[in-house]
Amino acid sequence: MRQAELHNSISSRARALEASKIRAIAELGMHNPDVIPLWFGESAWKTCPVIVDAAIASLKAGNHMYQPNNGAMKLRHAICTYSKNLLGSHINPAQVTVTPSGMQGLILTAEFLVTPGDRVVALEPSWPNIIGAFKMTGAEIVSVAITSKKGRWELDLGELLAALTKDTKVVVINSPNNPTGWTMSVKEQRVVLEHCRRYGIWIVADDVYTRLYRNGRHAPSFLSIAEPEDLLISVNSFSKCWSMTGWRLGWIVAPAAFEAKLGQLTEFNTSCTAGFVQAAGIAALQDGEDEITSLLEKIKIGYELTAAQLSTFSRVEFIEPDGAFYCFFRVDGLTDSFDAARKILKKTKVGLAPGVAFGPQGEGYLRLCYAQPANVLKEAFKRLEPFLSK
Ligand SMILES: Cc1ncc(COP(=O)(O)O)c(C=O)c1O
Repeated sequence: MRQAELHNSISSRARALEASKIRAIAELGMHNPDVIPLWFGESAWKTCPVIVDAAIASLKAGNHMYQPNNGAMKLRHAICTYSKNLLGSHINPAQVTVTPSGMQGLILTAEFLVTPGDRVVALEPSWPNIIGAFKMTGAEIVSVAITSKKGRWELDLGELLAALTKDTKVVVINSPNNPTGWTMSVKEQRVVLEHCRRYGIWIVADDVYTRLYRNGRHAPSFLSIAEPEDLLISVNSFSKCWSMTGWRLGWIVAPAAFEAKLGQLTEFNTSCTAGFVQAAGIAALQDGEDEITSLLEKIKIGYELTAAQLSTFSRVEFIEPDGAFYCFFRVDGLTDSFDAARKILKKTKVGLAPGVAFGPQGEGYLRLCYAQPANVLKEAFKRLEPFLSK
């Protein structure tokens, strides 16, 4: 078969896929141990022993069999207790589906809600996989911009509400936002919730960075203000605040009426999440609070160092993030961030994410994940100096 025929023989959905531009840069250097990897959203530290030990004990006890579609009941209960203690939300296990990662939670949600052609409103800049997941299911994406105004990232709420027309199916809100760190206030969440109730619009809240918030124990969450029957799906993950990116474990919270349907959808996707990984999740929720405190202290140091370093370059402009663990900074004169990230990687062996990966608005920016020890960040900036000062 010729190349073109081969290409046409696969689904239109697969054909239409565009590569993640973060991943495209990372693939160029991921296997080189000399590279300082600041491209992905992941911390440099190991998962804490209490979590690792729980997984090992579970595996040794023979927990290697298929699991219930919606997740092990013990973990679903632990998620409810965690949410109640943290957010004051009264969810019950029927609302919780465990997923093999936050990403899987997003695609499951998109498959659950979207019929091809549905209008889905998303905020940009955005982690590309959010938009990618909804596009894959045939959504028509309408973007509303988070913009930099007077040294703050801001969302024009009026603009968002205007975009949330009666024929909108879903609005996806990732707060704290990857890459900017912008965080939606409770007041804004109330307005959006009321509006969506009026028009019957689903809210998909990507709450993956809720704990990585710089102004309190957690960022404002729709789960704190919603009723159990509201059209709300919260997507969450163990990856970030418990340093568990490679474990692939997450969860979603949805109205209880859809427990069986989400179970069916899981059956034909992944069928279930590994049982010993779920055991690790229970340990994280029940005994991992110190781990989060420790990570927050470490990323505070990482942020301060990064901010101090970035401030020394007159070409660089950045806004203090409210949450997550990224600096999304603009470099004066930078017109092709993908090419720049590629050159930076080649010449300095520092891996950064190109701003354009987060949408056209991100062109001219680079994203750096500062969840790294001080010596690593110092070395990274030493290498980046010639690029950023030019
Ligand atoms: C906004 C956002 N949502 C979801 C995820 C998914 O995380 P994971 O698939 O590792 O659980 C990420 C990871 O970078 C993210 O940044």
